[in-house]
Amino acid sequence: MIVLGVESSCDETGLALYDTQRGLLSHALHSQVAMHEEYGGVVPELASRDHIRRAIPLLEQALSKAGMAAQDIDAIAYTQGPGLAGALLVGSAIACSLGMALDKPVLGVHHLEGHLLSPLLASEPPEFPFVALLVSGGHTQLMRVDGVGQYELLGETLDDAAGEAFDKSAKLLGLGYPGGPAISRMAEFGDPEAYKLPRPMLHSKDLMFSFSGLKTAVLTVVNNNGGAANVCEQDKANIARGFVDAIVDVLTAKCLSALKQTGLKRLVIAGGVGANAQLRASLNAAARKKHFKVYYPELEFCTDNGAMIAFAGAMRLQINPQAAQRDYSFNVRPRWPLDELRVI
Ligand code: KG4
Ligand code: ZN
Repeated sequence: MIVLGVESSCDETGLALYDTQRGLLSHALHSQVAMHEEYGGVVPELASRDHIRRAIPLLEQALSKAGMAAQDIDAIAYTQGPGLAGALLVGSAIACSLGMALDKPVLGVHHLEGHLLSPLLASEPPEFPFVALLVSGGHTQLMRVDGVGQYELLGETLDDAAGEAFDKSAKLLGLGYPGGPAISRMAEFGDPEAYKLPRPMLHSKDLMFSFSGLKTAVLTVVNNNGGAANVCEQDKANIARGFVDAIVDVLTAKCLSALKQTGLKRLVIAGGVGANAQLRASLNAAARKKHFKVYYPELEFCTDNGAMIAFAGAMRLQINPQAAQRDYSFNVRPRWPLDELRVI
């Protein structure tokens, strides 16, 4: 069965073809980062319009890379939520129109389920059950995953998501958008002893997170130095290092607690912050020391992409072929808690 995946929840348009027998056939992606950069963040209206421009050319790219025609597609999976309403509407409308035109069934997919399952696309995928840390621009959650559609929320952030903290702190340092990769590159040259920033909720004895205080700590340090314009490059690197070390310490400690609490020995990292080199180094070191295994998606599938949506759709369809329907009316779900996702 060949599933087309359509991702358009935020600022990436992703189209991909996944074959349940042969695996990922092709994927095509366009990132809008350059377009939103001058505004310092995603402008929803511009995002929606760009998805309209990109989706069909990307579909053609994905089909031609796979050497296939549109009629070869068996089902279409699209991101139904959560995300920006307008952006979701574009992807859903395109997926459902294609489905209608080609007479193929369609299926709405939860964006976070896509992220959660994305490590299964790697060459050495984890087996179920595992603990998953989902760290993206909008979410920070620890989950127990027993199978496709079987997710138990163990803990989540009370305020900012980890990616949001990266982006906001980077902005405070004048590092532009998106801040995650920029602040972590800068941190590599920083002195770890220069600024010790707080580790929020490190000792809270539960699996909850809070990152807004850490962002405020960065703001206070920047202000104490006379504002970002007055902070020299080395000191920016030192602050970046203080920030990254704090967030990585918290994420690592909570992952260890989740493994201990569940008694599981497999940890999966998903979402954009999962691309972070310092987080990976810290988790790899902990895995060696505490004898558990840690799995990451391929770097290109850490951030938003169509492959994870095609894959999540294909997994659901394998379990329940009725999950996709020839019903082309759609409604998007900009807010959609993962625990409201129906069990298959
Ligand atoms: O999963 P994703 O592409 O989109 C959401 O669904 O939110 O994640 C985007 C987030 C952004 O906040 C971005 O700054 C962060 O992931 N990110 C990183 C890195 N690469 C992306 N954060 C830290 N280090 C990175 N290397
Ligand atoms: Zn995402």
